[in-house]
Amino acid sequence: MVVTSSGSAMTVEADPSQAESGAGDAGQLEDRRLPTSTLDGWRRFVHADPSIVELLHADRWSELSEAQRRDYDEARIAHHAELVVVTTSAISEITEEGRLLTLMNQREIGARRGLMVSGAAATGKTTAIKQLGRVHELRTRARFPRSDRIPIVYVTCPPKGSPRKLAMEFARFLGLPPVGARQNVTDIADAVCRVLIDARTDLVIVDEIHNLNLQTSAGEDLSDHLKYFTEHLPATFVYAGIDVERSGVFTGTRGRQLAGRCSLIPTGPFPYGDEWRQLVAAMEATLRLHQHRPGALVEQAKYLHARTGGMIGSLAHLTRAAAIRAILSGTEALTQPLLDKVRIDHAAESATRRASSTR
Ligand SMILES: Nc1ncnc2c1ncn2[C@@H]1O[C@H](COP(=O)(O)OP(=O)(O)OP(=O)(O)O)[C@@H](O)[C@H]1O
Ligand SMILES: [Mg+2]
Repeated sequence: MVVTSSGSAMTVEADPSQAESGAGDAGQLEDRRLPTSTLDGWRRFVHADPSIVELLHADRWSELSEAQRRDYDEARIAHHAELVVVTTSAISEITEEGRLLTLMNQREIGARRGLMVSGAAATGKTTAIKQLGRVHELRTRARFPRSDRIPIVYVTCPPKGSPRKLAMEFARFLGLPPVGARQNVTDIADAVCRVLIDARTDLVIVDEIHNLNLQTSAGEDLSDHLKYFTEHLPATFVYAGIDVERSGVFTGTRGRQLAGRCSLIPTGPFPYGDEWRQLVAAMEATLRLHQHRPGALVEQAKYLHARTGGMIGSLAHLTRAAAIRAILSGTEALTQPLLDKVRIDHAAESATRRASSTR
């Protein structure tokens, strides 16, 4: 069986930064778990090769010695533990819009426009903005192969954050020397801005922007500080956060300023339909199981939708966990009884219970 992603409108690519821990390590996962909130970790994420594991021919498979079989199974388990990023319509939209804005903002002298990705928890916001960052970095590297640019900075808005904490997130990403207790926030921010201007950073990604609560004075300070960065850096800012429209990020004078400069792309659960089936097909295409009949998972698309409530994260977990179970148990196929056994997250399980109790 040759497994490819053809036949689906979606493409697949491994996101090694999200490999689950505890999976069989075939030597490929260990150095890929660095957090992407440091330059080193981010670069490894950008340049990591997708996991490639080919299924052995049935004859070769049956001839494996015990030790060979163990190594082969470990490599397949590691492969299934890695997240495969499916290019969903939201990801396409975010990467296209992000590219357009970076191109337009290069020539912009006044207020630059940004992008806001907003949706419920676990709807793929972080995955999407990291894909945008990755595509942008690879494109910049291809264009300027020998430069020491840092095209992207990826930071997370700190919870109950202060401007100092935010500036330190930037400094941490860049690996600037530890900040002394007496160094004030403007000094840190200035140092960060200098490095980013020298490194020609043109995309700044700020995740978890819902932590910015403009109703509190700490949140207001943080937002002023973010504004300082946007005004001092010739870069496009991309934000992602949970239900940003309702979280207070866009309210008040500061919020309205931000809203006036940002395009908003929503993320959410998938309705049951073509794109859902394509998503299931793309995930099925990455399976490396000996007894799995191609197409059998797509036939379960409706069941999978009912189990996961259309949530991409729950689907990714369910298929990956079931594939690993199929290898460990020797069944080598994703059948409904096996899928039934896999626990998903609390949110999806309770949504399924609610749906079945109202039936
Ligand atoms: N494009 C994708 N392809 C495959 N799996 C995906 C994709 N997007 C998201 N996932 C899965 O969904 C999970 C949750 O995604 P992600 O962390 O990006 O969501 P989020 O919206 O940022 O969540 P939170 O609100 O909790 O920060 C991921 O760990 C991954 O398993
Ligand atoms: Mg996230």
